[in-house]
Amino acid sequence: MRTTVFYFSGTGNSLVAARQLAEKLDSARLIALASLPDDRQFIVDSDIVVFVFPVYAAGIPVIVKNSLARLRFTGKPYICAIATCGGDAGAAIGILATELQAKCSMQLAAGWKLLMPGNYTPLYGAFSDKVHETILNAANERIELLSGLIAGRQTCRLETTPAPFSWLVKFIWLGFAGWVGKSDRHFRALRSCTGCGLCEKVCLVANIRLNEKGRPVWQQHCQQCMACLQYCPVEAIQFCWWTQGRRRYHHPQVTPSMLASQKEAISEA
Ligand SMILES: Cc1cc2nc3c(=O)[nH]c(=O)nc-3n(C[C@H](O)[C@H](O)[C@H](O)COP(=O)(O)O)c2cc1C
Ligand code: SF4
Ligand code: SF4
Repeated sequence: MRTTVFYFSGTGNSLVAARQLAEKLDSARLIALASLPDDRQFIVDSDIVVFVFPVYAAGIPVIVKNSLARLRFTGKPYICAIATCGGDAGAAIGILATELQAKCSMQLAAGWKLLMPGNYTPLYGAFSDKVHETILNAANERIELLSGLIAGRQTCRLETTPAPFSWLVKFIWLGFAGWVGKSDRHFRALRSCTGCGLCEKVCLVANIRLNEKGRPVWQQHCQQCMACLQYCPVEAIQFCWWTQGRRRYHHPQVTPSMLASQKEAISEA
């Protein structure tokens, strides 16, 4: 049984979930959506296909939506999704199902939310390490359960906001999707920036360049993934003025290099 796990992750939660899942599903291939070639379609010939990604504004990251158009499915695989979220997955799974149908003419057989620590510092500071540990342990157990369902190609009711409420939620997400690219005009680096270049390294969409003074300059095609803000070693990066002093979060096991490895070109063997 050939299995492919596609994933996108800004601060490591979905990366760890995708890796754990791939380990539990025999010989699953792990593919970062950020590494898909943009000049041609990527052939998906697996029997089981899983999408793992974070919830953004009760919907899906724009990069996940755009990646779907680059996939070409052969055959009729079992397709499911796991949306990692800090509280509620909203309409994310439903939106993925709609986009999958529209862009790939494929159906989502199952979709689940997976509670993990929230990373959206513009709205809240992170919890304590102890609370994160409890949340991550519960997430590990749920991944174990979900891997069994996926291996058995279980069809389930999608864990998503039902209609008609989903229309309102989707409306909010569409607003986010239209705003996100240029949302980076609200980022800035404080004087404490050391010019280390880590923010440039962890940005999966090459949206940060260091200027001649070694300061980050955002390039207006942002995904709002929060990697730059969360991984800056001196917490110099702020979004508007109110994120200063808010506790940061990225998955404790995910180093900047692990996160940035999502940019590495895939071999299509
Ligand atoms: C732009 C943005 C929007 C988010 N919106 C939601 C949301 O609507 N609901 C929610 O529960 N979590 C939301 N979150 C939190 C993330 O979905 C959650 O922390 C996720 O596990 C992060 O995954 P990652 O570490 O793989 O990037 C949001 C995070 C970001 C960056
Ligand atoms: S990661 Fe932080 S300290 Fe390093 S260059 Fe970026 S903003 Fe400056
Ligand atoms: S600029 Fe920061 S928030 Fe925007 S995509 Fe890059 S790392 Fe993510």
